[in-house]
Amino acid sequence: MRLTIRDIQKMKSKGELIAMMTAYDATSARLSELAGVPMILVGDTLGMVIQGHDSTIPVTLEHIIYHASIVVRTTQRPLIVGDMPFMSYSVSVEQALENAGRLMQEGRVSAIKLEGGEHLAPTIERIVQAGIPVMAHIGLTPQSVNKFGGFRVQGNDVASARQLLRDAHAVQDAGAFAVVLELVPTPVAQMVTEELDIATIGIGAGPHCDGQVQVFHDILALFDAFVPRHTRQYAQVGTVIREAIAQYVEDVKAGSFPTAENSFSVSEDVMVALRTGGTDNGAGH
Ligand code: KIV
Repeated sequence: MRLTIRDIQKMKSKGELIAMMTAYDATSARLSELAGVPMILVGDTLGMVIQGHDSTIPVTLEHIIYHASIVVRTTQRPLIVGDMPFMSYSVSVEQALENAGRLMQEGRVSAIKLEGGEHLAPTIERIVQAGIPVMAHIGLTPQSVNKFGGFRVQGNDVASARQLLRDAHAVQDAGAFAVVLELVPTPVAQMVTEELDIATIGIGAGPHCDGQVQVFHDILALFDAFVPRHTRQYAQVGTVIREAIAQYVEDVKAGSFPTAENSFSVSEDVMVALRTGGTDNGAGH
């Protein structure tokens, strides 16, 4: 049975910390589910780790729908959240509602995520009213990286910390079931977490959030353009893969792969017939 937003709310009330992961395809989704991840984000980080862009801006709704439908199809238990990409929800409330509906209907996700606080509260409210659970995302919102002038910590002065608190309360009041806090100083994230009834999911927001979210390619060291400070590399999978492929290349070049073990035989009769122009049933001329 797939987990629901009620299960996430129960985890918050019981103080059970939530380990959320991003996934974008059948392999990353299945491995995350097998490892016990309760909530998967099909994030627009796919623009960087899958598509090779230098930001999330070029990702479209169609891309997220495509990847989300794979992740949903290949998992049974985790709650799947689909990310609303840049400009798919900021033109109007109607546009946001229509696109959130598409992500749920075509991508088959159980919830959507969008970046923004106070100013997006009316949009969140309308989407939730339509029966679509919303996870908000405040602090550093990567789709606005050009406005912020880089990936910078948010809420590190009184005015911006107050704004962050207002954003957190506004998205909760609008009906969001959880909120991502990205690049927020630890004590500010702790304050938000203590003040809110909904779950806070941190990324670079310290240990006091109700949960954490990490990018699949970051914690496995598969993405090497840069290593964000908020990440911990749990395994050097990128190195293991590169070394394995290099060994394969060497083996092919040396003629030591494939061997009989990796190959298929056929009866000698068939080969005789092939060489002599005959059939399986008799020798040829
Ligand atoms: O797109 C994404 O993967 C995200 C997480 C990093 C929170 O938004």
